[in-house]
Amino acid sequence: MERKKNKKVIALFWPHMSRKVEKKLPEILNSRWIGQGPQVDSLERKFSSMFNLPYVVSVNNCTAALHLSLILADVKDGDEVITTPMTCSATNIPILYQRARAVFADIQENTLNIDPNSIRQKITDKTKAIIVVHWAGYPCDMDEILQIAKAKNLPVIEDAAHAVGAYYKDKPIGNISNYSCFSFQAIKQITSGDGGILTVQNENDYKRAKLLRWYGIDREFKGDIYSKYQIKEIGFKYHMNDIAATILILQLDDLAKVLARRRRIADIYRKNLNNVAGLELLESKNDRQSANWLFTIKVQDRQGFTKKLCGNGIESHMVHVRCDIYPIFGGRKLDLPVMNKVEDKYTSIPLHTKLTDEDLKRIIKTIKSGW
Ligand SMILES: Cc1ncc(COP(=O)(O)O)c(C=O)c1O
Repeated sequence: MERKKNKKVIALFWPHMSRKVEKKLPEILNSRWIGQGPQVDSLERKFSSMFNLPYVVSVNNCTAALHLSLILADVKDGDEVITTPMTCSATNIPILYQRARAVFADIQENTLNIDPNSIRQKITDKTKAIIVVHWAGYPCDMDEILQIAKAKNLPVIEDAAHAVGAYYKDKPIGNISNYSCFSFQAIKQITSGDGGILTVQNENDYKRAKLLRWYGIDREFKGDIYSKYQIKEIGFKYHMNDIAATILILQLDDLAKVLARRRRIADIYRKNLNNVAGLELLESKNDRQSANWLFTIKVQDRQGFTKKLCGNGIESHMVHVRCDIYPIFGGRKLDLPVMNKVEDKYTSIPLHTKLTDEDLKRIIKTIKSGW
């Protein structure tokens, strides 16, 4: 269907940027510190106090946080990591950095999150860790997942790239499993262009993560220069800089407002798209609070749906495709019955703070008129 002329295009994503950023940023740009400096420390303190998280380590993106988590979880050559195919490649590529194998578990039909029962079935003697992704910001069934992990003494890594500010049973995401990884990449709820945070649960992991994010060098060491550069473990250049940290500190002031607006939009979609033929909503339980990064739905004839929306100037997209089909992960569709069933159905519709009530009405009306 051709796009109707003179209609405003309603974007799928639009970054939120605090008004305070453009006022404050020149001060940082003209200061002595634009690399990792005091703003990075302030950001970590702020994130820690907002969500009551004892150990917060900022990094330059969530992929780096995921890689560090795998190192801290002692994932090495030949190990297996159970994970979900329904995610960004960034969740699973760091498993390969460690020369380990990604073992894909199936997902749940009503959430698209990893299925705890499938995790249980995939555990072998080689399993070293479990990665879960809170799809669209809606928390996974963490009680079940933690129970399985505890029984086998396995660390859990939460890829919380979609889930800043989400809660599971009164606990903020970031304070539940051994490791949680957040993303502030360009189209996330709040962003600094790129940025990431890793949260851990003990002092040892905290200290090691801080070393690993900067070549293995202890930046806080105050002794002589030769002792400082006694690098004992190969680290990376994964630290955040003060430009990104300044932006994020200001963005965090807006987080509650941003999440409330996103929740409101999601509620409006749920109320209005509840009974549309050929469209299914995902689960929304009261025991957890989604961060509503995406509004994902399942539709029949996804191509027809996408064409209809596109013809009316409304963007929609799958956002991520199953990872098992990438050659680096084996390059074939695995026997994952739910993943196979939903892969032609899921898509996401616009959800961001620039979406107006008029835009919402137009999206809902277009969808309700069928495709
Ligand atoms: C589920 C998931 N994990 C990880 C990432 C990687 O985040 P970053 O770009 O901050 O490395 C993304 C990025 O969109 C993502 O969607």
